[in-house]
Amino acid sequence: MSLATQRLDSFLAKHCGISKRDVRLMLAQKRVLVDEQLAANIEQQINKFSLIVLDEEVIQNNPAYYIMLHKPVGVVCATKDDKHSTVIDLLPYDFKEQLHIVGRLDLNTSGLVLLTNDSRWSEAITQPSQKIEKTYQVTLQNPIDESYVDAFAQGMYFGYENITTLPAKLKILDTHKAEVKLLEGKYHQIKRMFGRFRNPVTALHRSQIGDLALGDDLPAGQVRELTNAEVCLFTDKR
Ligand code: URA
Repeated sequence: MSLATQRLDSFLAKHCGISKRDVRLMLAQKRVLVDEQLAANIEQQINKFSLIVLDEEVIQNNPAYYIMLHKPVGVVCATKDDKHSTVIDLLPYDFKEQLHIVGRLDLNTSGLVLLTNDSRWSEAITQPSQKIEKTYQVTLQNPIDESYVDAFAQGMYFGYENITTLPAKLKILDTHKAEVKLLEGKYHQIKRMFGRFRNPVTALHRSQIGDLALGDDLPAGQVRELTNAEVCLFTDKR
């Protein structure tokens, strides 16, 4: 799902019902602003989030939304579900139906979930080639030891999907707790990796995506909009 772009002259010609030659004139007369800048180039690429103003009248204004949620355990990362409440149900915004989830968590995992209506931004986070690190705090039923560190770093083969996991970082925090950093998000990946050691995960929490941390100020079930600087943590890396 990538964000479609089109030329400014195509957009204006269609919107105003005029020829591209008339659009050229319109730009020469300095009547068009794109994202608050005077537009001069008919070939300029715009997308659905470009703010377009013609003769001081706004003719396109679709804001992009970037939301952080502290997902509680027991809420499902889906837009609809018959049994459980969904992350969308937790959002207090009237635009919530426009949003999609950027990298899901399991029902019994808590922590950082991002939502947006900007598919280009979500791709910058979820595309495997972007190699954005996700950080998890894991609590285990049985004690862990140094042998886990090597096994996670080497990667594990999952026959069902015929894949080997990318090198993952595991740091032992105490006898039953670890921090794990993954570059990908395969199905139930962390639970299955600890499953290799027959060591069930009793709690799993995502604290960070790339350099964006959930922090301690957002209680479970609460949401907030990201700051510009937080949004740019991902877009500036492309
Ligand atoms: N690994 C899992 O097993 N579950 C999650 O929700 C995320 C990573």
